[in-house]
Amino acid sequence: MGQTMMSDHNISDIGLHASGKDRVDWARNNMPILGAIKERLAVEQPFKGHKIGICLHVEAKSGVWIETLMAGGARIAITGSPGSTQDDTAAWLVKELDVEVFAWRSETFDEHMDNARRVLATEPTIIADNGGDLHFLLGDDDAYKGLRDSIIGATEETTTGANRLREELPAFDFPTIIINDTMAKRIVENRYGVGISVVDGIMRTTNIMLGGKTVVVVGYGYCGQGVAQRLRGLGAHVTVVDTEPLAQLEAHFEGFTTGLLKDALPGADIVITVTGRDSAIQKEHFELMKDGVVLCNAGQNSAEIDIESLREMAATQRTLRPDIEQLTLDSGRKFFLLAQGNLINLAGGDGNPIEVMDLGLALQTLSLECIALGAGTLSNGPQTVPHDIEQATLRAALQEWVK
Ligand SMILES: NC(=O)c1ccc[n+]([C@@H]2O[C@H](COP(=O)([O-])OP(=O)(O)OC[C@H]3O[C@@H](n4cnc5c(N)ncnc54)[C@H](O)[C@@H]3O)[C@@H](O)[C@H]2O)c1
Repeated sequence: MGQTMMSDHNISDIGLHASGKDRVDWARNNMPILGAIKERLAVEQPFKGHKIGICLHVEAKSGVWIETLMAGGARIAITGSPGSTQDDTAAWLVKELDVEVFAWRSETFDEHMDNARRVLATEPTIIADNGGDLHFLLGDDDAYKGLRDSIIGATEETTTGANRLREELPAFDFPTIIINDTMAKRIVENRYGVGISVVDGIMRTTNIMLGGKTVVVVGYGYCGQGVAQRLRGLGAHVTVVDTEPLAQLEAHFEGFTTGLLKDALPGADIVITVTGRDSAIQKEHFELMKDGVVLCNAGQNSAEIDIESLREMAATQRTLRPDIEQLTLDSGRKFFLLAQGNLINLAGGDGNPIEVMDLGLALQTLSLECIALGAGTLSNGPQTVPHDIEQATLRAALQEWVK
């Protein structure tokens, strides 16, 4: 894989830093909300003395965010997610900002979890999590009891991480502010941002026409709504599947075909999962799909599609384009899996549009500042972003976007 191995980073190739700089320079041009916050933090230094341990996609917008946190006095260690790391941005972060980066694009899930352990080994005092992986590791009493005691608080970005923190993970003795609890994030990022970027990721990866295709969107939450709407806008015939009756009703009133997964799959040209839950597509579902179906995922975890079973069923596997695998059964029936089931908008494209992440990462920054300055005054455990932070961020976005 040709990784550069040193004590304070583990990335693909430090030599890629110049193109990482170009990417980050472009993103910064379009992130005025963070720019204004950065100017203030540079004066006030709320993160002085803190190491922030981050799990978030290592890409250009995150690079601008990291600059912002560092301007406020933070030191940073970061890992990303499988399939979404921009190796050149990772190189730029190490070379220019001396960030401890543990991420490379082709990492497997196990390597990703090892990288998350490396972030925790740098002894952060604040955590910024995405999908709950750092919290999951911190829950291990034997390995991380001491570190847990020194962490003053955390943020969590996603729906998946919020679900894990509230339903599965142990209670922590520090506050975790859930960015996804805000309507600002759900509507601006999940609905509009993910909607457009998933379509972009599929088109860039496959180069196929979406108009006229029958697309099944599995999961009609904030992200699924955006994906379904944007696909319809391009002329796709969209069927929505959701396990919740209210979501089905909403899809119906929006004019989408909706029904059971087993009834929707046989006609699908493309199936997209965006549920935030594992195994939305299981082995039995592959039997129902037609020859040539395209499978992709936009939820946080590749486990939304039971890829392992599909691989076991396949007689042959070959890679046709960088993010398109053809899996063929003995019968000759073909499945095309995009980006190994990793988030298609990040693996196949550049993730959510820059402006959308300017807002989302502003919410993150102000929530982290709230942790740094307000630890001790906040209750422990998962909690929503303070209302004034959400309002201030939305007002800043309005000022920038609605001139
Ligand atoms: N790709 C990205 O850039 C990006 C950005 C934000 C969030 N996400 C991720 O996308 C996923 C969805 O997020 P969201 O905010 O839309 O969540 P949400 O909770 O608003 O919606 C999920 C929907 O999926 C439905 N669902 C759950 N299990 C199902 C199943 N087995 N079959 C059919 N429907 C099922 C739920 O009823 C719900 O309506 C999460 O994993 C989230 O972390 C991805």
